[in-house]
Amino acid sequence: MSRILLVLFVAVLASGALAADGDALYRTYCSQCHGITGHGNGINAPHMSVVPRDHTNASEMGKRSDEDLFKVVAEGGSSMNQSILMPAWSGLLEDDDLHALIRHMRALCCE
Ligand code: HEC
Repeated sequence: MSRILLVLFVAVLASGALAADGDALYRTYCSQCHGITGHGNGINAPHMSVVPRDHTNASEMGKRSDEDLFKVVAEGGSSMNQSILMPAWSGLLEDDDLHALIRHMRALCCE
């Protein structure tokens, strides 16, 4: 029985049927710098020479297209003339995850 469940689980994963969860991804990979609520006040922030972006700042976030956000998250701060303290995530996360993170940042900012 458990073997059948495992096969089903793997099949679901392989089909991509589990939608990427932007909130969970953000908490896992981004909150230590940007903070759980996106205010740029994660536990690393007080020790960093460049302050992590406040993703709830509507006027700043409103200047960024989704393409800009995708590029900086995928390729890191240095790809957009920003600090190397913003890591590149494309080696770890799938494109679907990055799109889910962008949707989550838009929600943190403006909903
Ligand atoms: C090690 C700390 C750290 C982590 C972890 C981190 N960031 Fe950043 N992030 C930064 C810093 C610092 C900046 C500001 C760079 C600058 O202003 O030069 C930044 C900037 C950004 C920007 C640019 C905003 C703009 O105005 O263009 C986005 C988008 C962003 N981060 C998203 C994310 C996402 C999504 C994650 C998780 C997948 C993440 N960050 C994880 C430190 C971090």
